[in-house]
Amino acid sequence: MHNSVCFLILSWVFALLVFPGVPARSGESFSKPMDNITVRQGESAVLKCSVDNKVSRVAWLNRTTILFAGRDKWSLDPRVILLNNTGATEYSIKIQNVNVYDEGPYICSVLTNKKPKSSRVHIIVQVPARIVNISTNITVNEGSNVTLMCLAIGRPEPTILWKHRSRSGHNFMSEGEYIEITAITKDQSGVYECSANNDISTPDVRTLQVTVNYPPYISTARSTGTPLGQRGTLQCEASAVPVANFEWYKEDRRLFNGLNGVKIENKGRQSMLIFFNVSEEDYGNYTCVAMNTMGITNASIILYGPGAVHDVNRAPLSLQNSFCLLLTVISWFLFKF
Ligand SMILES: *[C@@H]1O[C@H](CO)[C@@H](O)[C@H](O)[C@H]1NC(C)=O
Ligand SMILES: *[C@@H]1O[C@H](CO)[C@@H](O)[C@H](O)[C@H]1NC(C)=O
Ligand SMILES: *[C@@H]1O[C@H](CO)[C@@H](O)[C@H](O)[C@H]1NC(C)=O
Ligand SMILES: *[C@@H]1O[C@H](CO)[C@@H](O)[C@H](O)[C@H]1NC(C)=O
Ligand SMILES: *[C@@H]1O[C@H](CO)[C@@H](O)[C@H](O)[C@H]1NC(C)=O
Ligand SMILES: *[C@@H]1O[C@H](CO)[C@@H](O)[C@H](O)[C@H]1NC(C)=O
Ligand SMILES: *[C@@H]1O[C@H](CO)[C@@H](O)[C@H](O)[C@H]1NC(C)=O
Ligand SMILES: *[C@@H]1O[C@H](CO)[C@@H](O)[C@H](O)[C@H]1NC(C)=O
Ligand SMILES: *[C@@H]1O[C@H](CO)[C@@H](O)[C@H](O)[C@H]1NC(C)=O
Repeated sequence: MHNSVCFLILSWVFALLVFPGVPARSGESFSKPMDNITVRQGESAVLKCSVDNKVSRVAWLNRTTILFAGRDKWSLDPRVILLNNTGATEYSIKIQNVNVYDEGPYICSVLTNKKPKSSRVHIIVQVPARIVNISTNITVNEGSNVTLMCLAIGRPEPTILWKHRSRSGHNFMSEGEYIEITAITKDQSGVYECSANNDISTPDVRTLQVTVNYPPYISTARSTGTPLGQRGTLQCEASAVPVANFEWYKEDRRLFNGLNGVKIENKGRQSMLIFFNVSEEDYGNYTCVAMNTMGITNASIILYGPGAVHDVNRAPLSLQNSFCLLLTVISWFLFKF
């Protein structure tokens, strides 16, 4: 029973191969050529073909593979169905759950008065942009070269944009799957956002964290009011990644928490040397040392004598501060003798 159909189909295929691109417009049986059909992955596509009563045989082909010959289904694909075509004027099929492999030309082939005619339609499958691979969170040392990767798929090809969210809120943007940062600085640490977009759906956005290690620098080295017999505090603050460890010295002698009437209190980037009850021997020159795996630095902080309450914000001391210190030392000596 299928033999005659098969013969017919083969002759159609032959005719299609011999006369490729037979203009559909010239055929009486066709209203007009179909436009491209753009369909999103997972949705359905309806392929329409108009026929009339002069048509003796009809078939739908996917490239050169027959999907339907008349009402007989040749395709084994359950997603392909013949629509309930009204009357004898339409011969349409539907492809459900379209995937990227379905993209390509489909041909409605018609035999009228033993003359084969064909109408082509091109299915274009759109796929929303999706990020499939992105660099992991990384920790690098200041000065390293860093390459960040963000791979995305989609149809059409997605555009990939990078944004940098830093503490200062400063964003720089760059386009492409890879960004290369040469000699990374600590300001370039933070969250990097990759977004893939092809306008098919909302952009796919992923982020990754770049941590930049750098040696400590002391941003604050401060002495607060320290009258005799009262509580006194020296404050040292260091910016560092990883967070700095602190040590305190008076001249060459290291100070330890709980000994010699002092307490050392470390809280994140800040260390405090606390005197429970300031005595005269406590006055003098202290050194705060901040260190991490990247390096070490120190700053001098003076615990001033009575009558002079000074803030020393930055070591080394400025000329003005040295002058104050001189006054302090003089008054201290006057007070003592
Ligand atoms: C249909 O799609 C093909 C391939 O993408 C393209 O070359 C052609 O110009 C499109 N035709 C129309 C009418 O959009
Ligand atoms: C075609 O019509 C029959 C009977 O009316 C119905 O059962 C079937 O689901 C229809 N098929 C499609 C694809 O609409
Ligand atoms: C069309 O042909 C391609 C290539 O052979 C195949 O991968 C795809 O599944 C076919 N699609 C349909 C709807 O038949
Ligand atoms: C992501 O890319 C990296 C580097 O090219 C590769 O080693 C890894 O296997 C990829 N991961 C996945 C899930 O494809
Ligand atoms: C980083 O890249 C620059 C320029 O490409 C190169 O000169 C330098 O040697 C690289 N540094 C490291 C640590 O690889
Ligand atoms: C990467 O860093 C972000 C932000 O710090 C965090 O939310 C996320 O869990 C990290 N991802 C991995 C895989 O460690
Ligand atoms: C501080 O030390 C002085 C002298 O040793 C002592 O007289 C005073 O009571 C102490 N003050 C406090 C609050 O402990
Ligand atoms: C404190 O000591 C440091 C070194 O230990 C020194 O460089 C600095 O000049 C001293 N400051 C004063 C005010 O004497
Ligand atoms: C502080 O730093 C200076 C210069 O880097 C160094 O010579 C000195 O020994 C350091 N002091 C301490 C107590 O670590």
